[in-house]
Amino acid sequence: MRTYEIATIPGDGIGVDVTVEARKVLDAAAAQHGFALRWTEFDYSCERYSATGAMMPEDGVAKLAGFDSILLGAVGFPGVPDHVSLWGLLIPLRRAFSQYVNLRPVRLLPGTTSVLANRTADELEMVIVRENSEGEYSTLGGRHNAGQPGEFVLQESVFTRVGVERIIRYSFELARTRSKRVCSATKSNGIIHTMPFWDEIFELVAAEYADVAAEQCHIDALAARMVQHPDRLDVIVASNLFGDILSDLAAAVTGGLGMAPSGNINPERTHPSMFEAVHGSAPDIAGKGIANPVAQILAATMMLDHLGEVEAARSVNAAVEKVLEEGRVATPDLGGKATTEQLGTAIAEAL
Ligand code: NAD
Ligand code: IPM
Ligand code: MN
Repeated sequence: MRTYEIATIPGDGIGVDVTVEARKVLDAAAAQHGFALRWTEFDYSCERYSATGAMMPEDGVAKLAGFDSILLGAVGFPGVPDHVSLWGLLIPLRRAFSQYVNLRPVRLLPGTTSVLANRTADELEMVIVRENSEGEYSTLGGRHNAGQPGEFVLQESVFTRVGVERIIRYSFELARTRSKRVCSATKSNGIIHTMPFWDEIFELVAAEYADVAAEQCHIDALAARMVQHPDRLDVIVASNLFGDILSDLAAAVTGGLGMAPSGNINPERTHPSMFEAVHGSAPDIAGKGIANPVAQILAATMMLDHLGEVEAARSVNAAVEKVLEEGRVATPDLGGKATTEQLGTAIAEAL
């Protein structure tokens, strides 16, 4: 039987609850489609940090390297500073495995309502292609004149030609399989070194894709457009920080953070890719059993697609749509009273 080795890191807060449901649904899909998923669970988390002083062991990255894919819950919890937990786990994994594409598709699913009135599924479908390995997420910089009246901090961004070009090229290739439109989000009117450099590379790559409509947008105006006129948007390519912000905004207009999946992709497949929801550990609802597991289940279907189990991915997506459309089992964020476990089970049973 086809068998895939999957590493799972449930992590913190609701990451744990939604990952249990995603595993349940994937196991049901695997049984139906004649393959097996062999799960190995890793305890990398804030809880582990509190007990041992490290989010993961010293060979934590090496332990994951041989897996076919990684399914991650969420990382970060009150009590451990976010820069410690995220730079101790999530960000090093994305970089070590050269997962330089963070693919974040959103779509208004049937049965789901948007904060934007009278929109249908066809009008609200976008994908954020977020640069995931450099840019504004950098350790360069520091604090100067600490405690003095002239105290200041510097944070340097790093944009490499290779890094910018490959993410832009990826977005054009993706656009060819979709609407043939790419919008690049920058702030070249305000950020004078990095963003004009990005624009310059965008223009060079765009010239090679005459069949794709290329558009350069200022991110501030794009944010407004995503709320007021999202219908003309499809593939949006952005830097690490801008892509991060736009992906939560895109999630919000298509049903909320409980609905938005994400794949940290290593396109060359020299390392495992890692799948997770866009959302975080949601400390405000952690332990209540009411988190919406759909985002994590859709992230798991992105993983199935990546593994080549396209039919199984399609069945899970259809099961999600069926359950949402019926609307009988819905978590509070979707206007219902169901628990995380009940919604996960309903999706597994709808398969
Ligand atoms: P968050 O995404 O965890 O939560 C934002 C809001 O959305 C909260 O009100 C939360 O209850 C709600 N929400 C999120 N997911 C939901 C779901 N599945 N169902 C229902 N409601 C949901 O963002 P935050 O509060 O800014 O961050 C909390 C922690 O998570 C922080 O430590 C942050 O650094 C971390 N974080 C981690 C990741 C990751 O691991 N990739 C992503 C984002 C944030
Ligand atoms: C995400 C998260 C992370 C990011 C944080 C928690 C470091 O917001 O995955 O979207 O910005 O990449
Ligand atoms: Mn984010």
